[in-house]
Amino acid sequence: MEYRFLGNSGLKVSALSFGSWVTFGEQVDTDLAYESMKTAYDAGVNFFDNAEAYESGQSEIIMGKVIKKAGWKRSDLVLSTKIFWGGEGPNDQGLSFKHIKEGTEAALQRLQTEYVDLIFCHRPDLHTPIEETVWAMNQMISEGKALYWGTSEWSAEQIRKAYEFARREHLRPPLMEQPEYNMFKREKVEAEFAPLYEDIGLGTTIWSPLASGLLTGKYNEGIPEGSRLDLEKYSWLRKKLLETERGRQKLEKVKQLAPVAQDLGISMPQLALAWCLKNPNVSTVITGASKVSQVEQNMKTMDVIDKVDDEVMETIESILDNKPKAQPDFRN
Ligand SMILES: NC(=O)c1ccc[n+]([C@@H]2O[C@H](COP(=O)([O-])OP(=O)(O)OC[C@H]3O[C@@H](n4cnc5c(N)ncnc54)[C@H](OP(=O)(O)O)[C@@H]3O)[C@@H](O)[C@H]2O)c1
Repeated sequence: MEYRFLGNSGLKVSALSFGSWVTFGEQVDTDLAYESMKTAYDAGVNFFDNAEAYESGQSEIIMGKVIKKAGWKRSDLVLSTKIFWGGEGPNDQGLSFKHIKEGTEAALQRLQTEYVDLIFCHRPDLHTPIEETVWAMNQMISEGKALYWGTSEWSAEQIRKAYEFARREHLRPPLMEQPEYNMFKREKVEAEFAPLYEDIGLGTTIWSPLASGLLTGKYNEGIPEGSRLDLEKYSWLRKKLLETERGRQKLEKVKQLAPVAQDLGISMPQLALAWCLKNPNVSTVITGASKVSQVEQNMKTMDVIDKVDDEVMETIESILDNKPKAQPDFRN
């Protein structure tokens, strides 16, 4: 496993990490979660991602049980939670000081840990002043409940505003952002955030590297039974990913990418994960899996990543044909 610094910090995260969205508490019970996390851990994964919203807290409960059963040293782990959707009450959502404090404390109980290493604002909250959220996150760190804080699916402008306010007030600034990033979703990571990597040392913990499975090629000939896009609860995702013109175009691209993986003697999931890892501004690629065999295959990406060289990246680029435009440089 390779370990990368998380942005401008001294914290190292495994280049491949493991998360529990959709899976834990839905497709994966505690025993399977144990086998999956152990497989990831044995391959060198140290970062395990979670959120208060995942299966209404069940995902954190399962992860907490697994960590306890495995008996891993706390210092060997980088654990996260994300705060925003904590329940139905008027103060159970968003990024108010009240919800950040209460949501964090509840998550720690479910995870059976005294602190999370990373705490994320799961989305921007348009109804809470950004200053209140920065102060609340700083407070969680001061209280020892989290070590670093960051954002998820915030705009570059929102991140910069939070960062500058924190700096001005001598509070802990946001360190990392958790955006969706994969072959089909590139704009934020490759273009919008570009100035932030240098300016504020932003790290990224990227999600859905396989576009919920689309990039594995498993949907090329229909929807396999029991797969994510077959789940009734996630029919919204199926509609978004498969049942639109854009979705059909993506499937066509996946079909064109298949021979590239085949020629290299690697699997489609490995090609798609390696492609994400090749971006130096990606601190860690959060993988997800409903089966241990998937974790095994995904972790082996580290052994084959060198096959995805510049020439292969160019071939992929020509197939994808979706490279975000860089900021124009008017001096040239
Ligand atoms: N911050 C956010 O808003 C946010 C949002 C989403 C996710 N996340 C984080 O990112 C993590 C990863 O996201 P994700 O689960 O969407 O990642 P993903 O890699 O795009 O999708 C994972 C799913 O693809 C399928 N899969 C994975 N490996 C496979 C393989 N080798 N062969 C065949 N199928 C395979 C499995 O689904 P099936 O077997 O069911 O088909 C698996 O659950 C989450 O667990 C969560 O921690 C964060």
